[in-house]
This record gives sequence, C-alpha cells and structure tokens, in this order.
Amino acid sequence: MSRRCCGRSPTSTSWICDVDTLPAPLGLLAELTHRCPLGCPYCSNPLALEPRADELDTATWRRVFHEAGALGVLQLHLSGGEPALRPDLVDLVAAARAAGLYTNLITSAVGLTEQRLAALVAAGLDHVQVSIQDVDPGEADRIARRPGAFARKRRLAEEAVRLGLPLTVNCVIHRGNIGRIPAIVGLAAALGAGRVEIAHAQYHGWALANRSALMPTPDQVAAARVALEAAREAVRGRLIVEAVMPDHHAGLAKPCLGGWGRRSLNVTPSGLVLPCHAAQTIPGLAFWSVRDQPLDRIWRASPAFAAFRGTDWMREPCASCAWRDRDFGGCRCQALALTGDARATDPACRLSPHHAIVADLATGTDDAPIRWRG
Ligand code: SF4
Ligand code: FES
Repeated sequence: MSRRCCGRSPTSTSWICDVDTLPAPLGLLAELTHRCPLGCPYCSNPLALEPRADELDTATWRRVFHEAGALGVLQLHLSGGEPALRPDLVDLVAAARAAGLYTNLITSAVGLTEQRLAALVAAGLDHVQVSIQDVDPGEADRIARRPGAFARKRRLAEEAVRLGLPLTVNCVIHRGNIGRIPAIVGLAAALGAGRVEIAHAQYHGWALANRSALMPTPDQVAAARVALEAAREAVRGRLIVEAVMPDHHAGLAKPCLGGWGRRSLNVTPSGLVLPCHAAQTIPGLAFWSVRDQPLDRIWRASPAFAAFRGTDWMREPCASCAWRDRDFGGCRCQALALTGDARATDPACRLSPHHAIVADLATGTDDAPIRWRG
C-alpha cells in the first residue's frame, strides 16, 4: 500500500501522506435511506437508488457512529433521501450523541412531525437543516412534486426555532429560481434561521439528466451575484449567508469536498463508504463496506480513498499549478462526466484543455423540459 497521500511535505510544495499521520475526517455523511417523499429534478443521488431491503440496520449504524467518534470525526450529517423515513431515527440520534458526534439532521421536513422533532432534540440532536425549493409556494411544490410541501417546511422550520434548535435553510438554485435569491435569504431570516445555504445545483445523478433544463444563463448568474451581495448586506449580523455559485460560469474549479479523501466520508444506505456522493460513477474504484471493515481502516486503506488523495495522481496542467493544493484539481466526478477521464483537470478550470465544454454548457442553455423521476 502506498503511504503517500495527505499532509505537507517538508521538501516540496506537494501534498503527501503518511497513513500513520493522516488527519481524521471532520465530517461523516450518513445516507440513512435513499427513499424520499419528494421528486426534485436536481437530486444528485444515483440514478439507481439503493432499495430499502439493503439498508443498514440500527445496530450497524450505531457501530459506525461509535467508530466515527473513535476515529475523530466531529460532525455527523444524517441525510438521505429523507432520513425521517427511518423509524429508528431517534435511536440513531441518541447513538450519535453517545459517540460524541455533533449531529445535524438534513431533512425535507415532509414526514417529520413536531412531536418527533421534539423527541430528536431530547435524544441529543444539535442542528437541523431544512431544504426549501423556492419562496413561491406553488413553484416550490411543483419542483418538489409534492402538494403542500412548502407549507409543511415552513411549519417545521418555525417549530425548530421554537425548540431552540439551530436552523439552516438550504435552497438549491437553478434557472427557475435564481432570480429569487434575495427573497430566499429574506425567508430564511424571517424564519429565524442562523444560516442559509444558497447552493447551485451540482450536476450529478438526476441533476445531470436535467442539466440543460436547470443551467442558468450567464446573464442570470451575473445578476444573481449582485443580488446576493445586496441580500447578504441586508441580513448582516443576523444570518450567515453561504453561497455556492455555479462553477460553469466562474472559470475556476472548486475544491470538491475540500479535496478527495481529506475531510469527509459518505456512507451509503447499504454501507458502502465513498469519498464523495457521486464517486460510484467513476469506473474501476472499489468501495469497501462498513459491513466488512471498521471505519478507521476504510479511511486509511481503502483504495477508493487513496485513488485521488493529495496531488500525486495529477496530470498537467494541475501537476505543476500553484493552485493544486487549494482546489485539488476540482471535482473528479465532473471531470469524468465531461471528459470521460476522472484524472483530467476539471473542465470548470479555465486552464483545462477541455474548458470549452463547460463554456458551451454555460452559454448553451435551452428550454429543455424537466425530466421527472418515475
Ligand atoms: Fe486548479 Fe488544476 Fe486549474 Fe490549477 S490547473 S487552477 S490545480 S484545476
Ligand atoms: Fe465526486 Fe466532486 S462529486 S469529486
């Protein structure tokens, strides 16, 4: 096994790694289930969802949380699909608290009652993130494919604040709602959230199938940047505004998840441990399972995590670029989707020989209809 992966070399500018000194991951994303009551067209979960019959049982998740705490993970994100569809969610939160993890529930709010939210708080839940689709109720319910979803989300967000639970509002941005960013920020402030995430759609999974229907125009993106800064100023001191704007329009690659295998790991409903949520799209990677291996060993020794850790795997132009330790060559899954080669420089970077692909996508928006799941 190679010992090179992730730390600063004393003799070069490259990131190297010694598995004995590899830092602990900061976060673990536990995808408790792929089942979901909504049908958003920008869902980045895989096209082939893992069935309920394959989901890890309560005891295995408890063990995983215990192993995560021992490994040094600080934050646990309980996600899905909709994690509230797991009947054992309160037990799982209690297990996470016992493991010393800061626990964040990422929920659509649909299927989560006020009584259950109170039980989750009593079990030790530290934070909740409620997704909204829009500020326009009709449009929000249309995108969620669930009548009444917007009203439900508002009620649960208000209840979270009433219970004293720190609240983040998350809204995925696309061509249809990018003009309403100030109103989305305003809604989060009115709900009493401490943080709002303005997150542009990431083109993986179902979102990739809908890319041409979701991609905003360059003019929309330029206007949204100005509007975002004004909205941020309006709530300064009351609400933290975090924004991920579309990298297709920026000319810069994003350090996807802070670098492959550097900060976080994902556990799928059936127990596979992934460096990122779209990693299974990359051919040739072998993913180890928490059913067979302890989390610590997977983090240190899984070939899938080693594949793109650090900078040694890079080719030019990344290999000799001054930004390689900052953006880590961008997103491997996007590089694969756009060039057919996961080792290529992310075409979002203007230095990529494939950057024209991204430039074409960013300007070539059309009126393609949304493709819905199912
Ligand atoms: Fe980042 Fe690679 Fe572009 Fe340099 S060439 S800025 S390392 S993606
Ligand atoms: Fe996989 Fe970015 S989503 S590396």
